[in-house]
Amino acid sequence: MIFGMDKLIGHNLLIGKRGLIFGVLNEQSLAWAVARRCHAEGASLVLTNTEAACKLGTVQTLAGSIDAPLVVADATSDESMEQLLVESQRLLGGPIDFILHAVAQAQNMRRHRSYDEMSYSYMQQTLNVSALSFHRLLQTARRMDAIRQGGSVVALTYIGAERSIIGYEEMADAKAMLQSIARNFGRLYADRGVRVNTVSQSPTVTKAGAQVAGQNHFLRFAEALSPLGNADAASCGDLCAMLFSDFSRKVTMQNIYNDGGFSSTGMTDTFIRQAGDIF
Ligand SMILES: NC(=O)c1ccc[n+]([C@@H]2O[C@H](COP(=O)([O-])OP(=O)(O)OC[C@H]3O[C@@H](n4cnc5c(N)ncnc54)[C@H](O)[C@@H]3O)[C@@H](O)[C@H]2O)c1
Repeated sequence: MIFGMDKLIGHNLLIGKRGLIFGVLNEQSLAWAVARRCHAEGASLVLTNTEAACKLGTVQTLAGSIDAPLVVADATSDESMEQLLVESQRLLGGPIDFILHAVAQAQNMRRHRSYDEMSYSYMQQTLNVSALSFHRLLQTARRMDAIRQGGSVVALTYIGAERSIIGYEEMADAKAMLQSIARNFGRLYADRGVRVNTVSQSPTVTKAGAQVAGQNHFLRFAEALSPLGNADAASCGDLCAMLFSDFSRKVTMQNIYNDGGFSSTGMTDTFIRQAGDIF
């Protein structure tokens, strides 16, 4: 059975809206939680991913389960982004109301190369896939006028962009750039009422998340230091749907934490109790 398909009750938050979702790879993908919430809220969707990802049966099954066409595109190619935006508007029947960017890959981390043993050519690929792809998407969409007046664009990020976290260094640099792109494009795109924000998500078990060494420890540490506990993928889907809706029409250029309070916490009783076993 497909993850939780029968449990979502919609609130008609996105009725009549057309959305483009990057990054659905499997049932654990944060993008999948966003796609199913947006579908439940009444949006028409196009899903997109790389050729390799789209060949996977899982991606096709997930797309089929929410009646979303799947379009192959490479977020590192200008031509591919242009074709994607043309094809998405054709399939959806008009300009796009919202876009989710959930694209990341860390080439050095994948090869277990530490931050002080970095290959710059891998790093360039990392930045291209994980950060410049967001700029490319926004620049292409703006040139083609592919996003409707008042539209909303969200990219997923992590608090490692603002704090130094062991093992996350390479992606931290990419996320810092991603968040800066969101601010700069948010200011530019305001002339068409288009909002651009990032959602900073708790560590979550996914394929990309598994690239971070010691992800298990991350999850437990963050859980103990988050008063509401780690935010799961479903809550990320809910928040993104709200950001795509008209209820957040004046929210732009923000980095919004979906992290159970982790980003504002110094210490919790849970952490003290658990740390007592260590110190
Ligand atoms: N999992 C976490 O703990 C966590 C926390 C905060 C933020 N994020 C961010 O959430 C986003 C989604 O990641 P996820 O954790 O759901 O993992 P995931 O592996 O399910 O998603 C990453 C996606 O990026 C796609 N991708 C890679 N290269 C691409 C390219 N050239 N063109 C188009 N797509 C490409 C992959 O195919 C995959 O679908 C990422 O930006 C990630 O950094 C993840």
